[in-house]
Amino acid sequence: MTNSNAADLEAEYERRTPTSKEHFEEARTYLPGGDTREVTYVDPYPTFVEEASGCTLTTADGEELLDFLNNYTQSVLGHAPPTVVDAVTERFARGNGLAAPTTEATELARRIVERVPSVETVRFANSGTEATMNAIRAAIAHTGNEHVLKLDGAFHGTHDTVLVGVEDEGRENPGVPTTVEERVSTVPFNDTKALVEAFERHGDDLACFIVDPIMGNAGMIPPREGFLETARDLTADTDTLLLFDEVMTFRMDPGGAQERYGIRPDLTAFGKFIGGGLPAGAFGGREDVMSVFDPATGSVTHSGTFNANPATMVGGAATLDALDGNAIERLNDLGATARERLEAVCADAEVPAQVTGDASFLNVHFTDDEVRDARTGTTHEAITERFSLAMRNRGVFVADRGLVNLSTPMGEPEIDALVDAVEGALADLSTAAAFDGA
Ligand SMILES: Cc1ncc(COP(=O)(O)O)c(C=O)c1O
Repeated sequence: MTNSNAADLEAEYERRTPTSKEHFEEARTYLPGGDTREVTYVDPYPTFVEEASGCTLTTADGEELLDFLNNYTQSVLGHAPPTVVDAVTERFARGNGLAAPTTEATELARRIVERVPSVETVRFANSGTEATMNAIRAAIAHTGNEHVLKLDGAFHGTHDTVLVGVEDEGRENPGVPTTVEERVSTVPFNDTKALVEAFERHGDDLACFIVDPIMGNAGMIPPREGFLETARDLTADTDTLLLFDEVMTFRMDPGGAQERYGIRPDLTAFGKFIGGGLPAGAFGGREDVMSVFDPATGSVTHSGTFNANPATMVGGAATLDALDGNAIERLNDLGATARERLEAVCADAEVPAQVTGDASFLNVHFTDDEVRDARTGTTHEAITERFSLAMRNRGVFVADRGLVNLSTPMGEPEIDALVDAVEGALADLSTAAAFDGA
């Protein structure tokens, strides 16, 4: 299908997904919005997935989709990688809810500490949200300051502090106390001048500056030279802790984005693949800061029924063992190839489109303007949604916001399929009707 308008794209989607539609109607009876995760909600309804293996999803409608979303970068080894499945099932079968330490937690902690030089000690949690929440709490306890600086439009999970400034300026966050909003400030990504000004205003009161080194939520926007370096200098000068959110970016290098970009933060939050596909988060950094969690000497509470459960720990360890330097290098090379080929496709398209990204991350943006922060990245939202629909109709699963990321089972054939699908989807969107209807 080419040169279709928006209604055609939706009709084609409905034709392909009748069972998903039925499942969605049923789900809506019991779950507000038909699911329990805002990001999976798409118009007119999401595709229900029954199984996943390698880089393929099998939908409830019996279709096979190439998965270029990978649970928002979590499934870096693809789905159900055998070594991880074996490790997790073997460990789970020997008992999992123990309320006692196990050596499996030490083993995963050791792997993280050995890979990431800035992380001297680490703690485990159950999500990226918990990781950033506890890291910020440590920063407040350590510095005695309560103000938090974050990037405008950056997503760090769903706890109160980091929900401030996620959407456009002026958006209210119903449910987040205004007292929280008062102690959070934001700066645009890649705007060094604004960063300097923010530190002039708040430097004396800041607990931490939380940064995702490549801006994921705003569309995989890499840092400009000097921005992260300035952040490091300003935080050091003001005794503010620099907190890197590496929930997504840890896959970019064995030592994470901080190694790739050569910056050493004080604290780091991890998530996504850190538990091998089971719910997981981790946060770590300087020993003197992390010691606030040591019950013998510190004062900050950190607990959780499922923290460091051994099945998650062995899943994470098996994943890190598979995701070694060679695997990451291969994945990053594949990403560079995909970006180069998609840039050529975007340059030839009739719609304004461009690709951002680094390592194994890509994002298609529908704008001719330079993409440097959340505001320049989030352009035509409705068109972006139509793009993901057009891609699904062509058998390729990507995020609603144009996010594409790779997994290790992929190779050149999958990149060919991606490039073909993007080329076709851009053609689908190229008529004025598609824009009018979007
Ligand atoms: C950069 C970043 N930080 C934090 C989070 C929150 O992680 P979780 O969804 O596991 O709570 C996400 C989730 O997508 C993320 O992308």
